[in-house]
Amino acid sequence: MAGRRDMEESIETVAGFIVRSRRIVVFTGAGASTESGIADFRSPGGIWDKYDPEDFYFQKFLANEQSREKYWHMSTELYESLKKAKPNPVHLAIAELEKLDKLDCIITQNIDGLHQKAGNSREKVIELHGTALSVSCLSCMRKYDRDEVQDRIRKGVKVPRCDDCGGLLKPDTISFGQAMPERETNEAYKRSLNSDLFIVVGSSLVVQPAAYMPINAKQGGAKLVIINRDPTPHDEYADVIINGPAGETMARILEKVRDKIKD
Ligand code: APR
Repeated sequence: MAGRRDMEESIETVAGFIVRSRRIVVFTGAGASTESGIADFRSPGGIWDKYDPEDFYFQKFLANEQSREKYWHMSTELYESLKKAKPNPVHLAIAELEKLDKLDCIITQNIDGLHQKAGNSREKVIELHGTALSVSCLSCMRKYDRDEVQDRIRKGVKVPRCDDCGGLLKPDTISFGQAMPERETNEAYKRSLNSDLFIVVGSSLVVQPAAYMPINAKQGGAKLVIINRDPTPHDEYADVIINGPAGETMARILEKVRDKIKD
């Protein structure tokens, strides 16, 4: 069956790339966490099927109390699924890449902290879209633990405010319309450009500037691998495309890498 053989060959090729590379960047999107039970955004039944992305715009959050109430209601629901999530074979494979001293860094669009939970070092994880695990005051920047703020919501607070200055509290995620984190974005550009192998796992590659990173890597001379269930707008630039389940694919690639390193 052609599909299976092609898949096998592609997995073999990617494992070969990994063994021969020294500055590997792995770029992950929500598709890397769906096998941990966290819905992605654009698959059927994903988050943007359930919620209107308009309601998540930063300007809306700032505009009025009612929008903030709606935001915190939705964000609380999403956080519940995220809290229960465990790393899946995608995260474990990427953590193993670091153990094999093959990983330069992870650039993730995900806010679930699963790369760190899987064992990757914090300093190797660039969270382009922030994290849902902490909360900040938009006025004085005081940081809060997410669970502490969720407790207030559980006790009936609809729009949590800062204990120090009364400012608005918001999860440390980057909403549409909110400025990208400067340090992380610059670092991600630099590491993509400097990589010799750039592996995309589970992203539709439609949100900028994140989706530009693979192109950046290609321009820097890296090999580009895209592992994603569905096609992406950047497929034409890829050296290898694997349209299949990310968990099984990544696990099989690492199996091949281990065999090759042993020989
Ligand atoms: N295996 C392989 N691919 C998968 C799997 C899986 N188990 N599950 C989902 N996918 C693929 C889907 O085919 C889809 O193309 O992952 C991709 C996920 O795409 P999106 O839902 O668009 O997620 P992402 O690319 O991370 O979105 C980028 O958009 O809404 C914003 O801030 C949000 O960070 C997010 C950004």
